[in-house]
Amino acid sequence: MTSTATERRSLGARFGGIVAEIDDDLARRIGRLDLPENLRDAIRYSLFGGGKRLRPLLTILSCEAVGGRRDQASDGAAAVEMVHTFSLVHDDLPAMDDDHLRRGQPTLHVHAGEAMAVLTGDVMLSLAFEWVARADQTAATRSLLAGELARATTGMIAGQVFDTLGGFPAGQTPAQQLHLIHRLKTAVLLRAACRMGAMCGGASEIELDAVTRYGEAVGMMFQIVDDLLDVTQTAEHIGKATGKDSLAGKLAYPGVHGVQATRGRIRQLATDAREALEPLGERGESLIELSGYMAVRTR
Ligand code: IPE
Ligand code: IPE
Ligand code: MG
Ligand code: MG
Ligand code: MG
Repeated sequence: MTSTATERRSLGARFGGIVAEIDDDLARRIGRLDLPENLRDAIRYSLFGGGKRLRPLLTILSCEAVGGRRDQASDGAAAVEMVHTFSLVHDDLPAMDDDHLRRGQPTLHVHAGEAMAVLTGDVMLSLAFEWVARADQTAATRSLLAGELARATTGMIAGQVFDTLGGFPAGQTPAQQLHLIHRLKTAVLLRAACRMGAMCGGASEIELDAVTRYGEAVGMMFQIVDDLLDVTQTAEHIGKATGKDSLAGKLAYPGVHGVQATRGRIRQLATDAREALEPLGERGESLIELSGYMAVRTR
């Protein structure tokens, strides 16, 4: 069996049931909305085009890792996937990365036009916060969730500004700039996905700290792997354009540090992620498995 087939089988076999629950939950939420049908179609198009659902999976597994029930995390998980999908729709726009392929199909602006893509991103962001504001949690937890998601979304947008337009603090080396881009545009949302799950599950301070450090490690690792896949995979395999980072003059990990160092850094961050969860004992095992998959994923 090829490594890709093994990877797909292991993620599917291990977490496919939860991913299916995430999909069903999102479909129910979108189906209930009072929206123009063309806008609902555009949300469905971008949301159900084959995403891996790693962020909502992190939210749910983080909730379970601190002793919570899966259903306690569903509002937060759905909200994180909406912010992520909004970020992808806008990331692909002509004014940003100008990409034509996403999740294996034409990008939303190619499919439905630029105005619809802008507005669909806008509404997904707004819906995410509505879902968190109405989450089946105490008022205190709802407020924590909203603050967490807002801070991460602001960070993601700041990261997209650095990545797209520059404007870095003076005196930074390319390696420092790259670190800043990765932390903001990608890691902060994955970290928030983990922390929101832990909050939904009623984490203690020690548990929240462990999950936070895990989220920081997998968050950084995630974008380093994304940069690596851009130079090692085909568009057909990963469902989005490849070879674009260097073509577009983007700072990316293999370009700045080389491919060997990129692989070494991914391994180190996988170890950091595992070690961060030691305080959770056996309850951290699912998250450790997921980070292992995230380190070797090829799409
Ligand atoms: C791609 O994220 C965008 C990055 C932050 C690198 P994913 O690789 O998680 O995209 P989907 O959700 O599976 O399509
Ligand atoms: C995207 O980074 C980060 C986001 C906030 C969407 P990329 O531009 O590298 O993501 P892909 O490669 O298009 O998915
Ligand atoms: Mg981009
Ligand atoms: Mg992009
Ligand atoms: Mg990329």
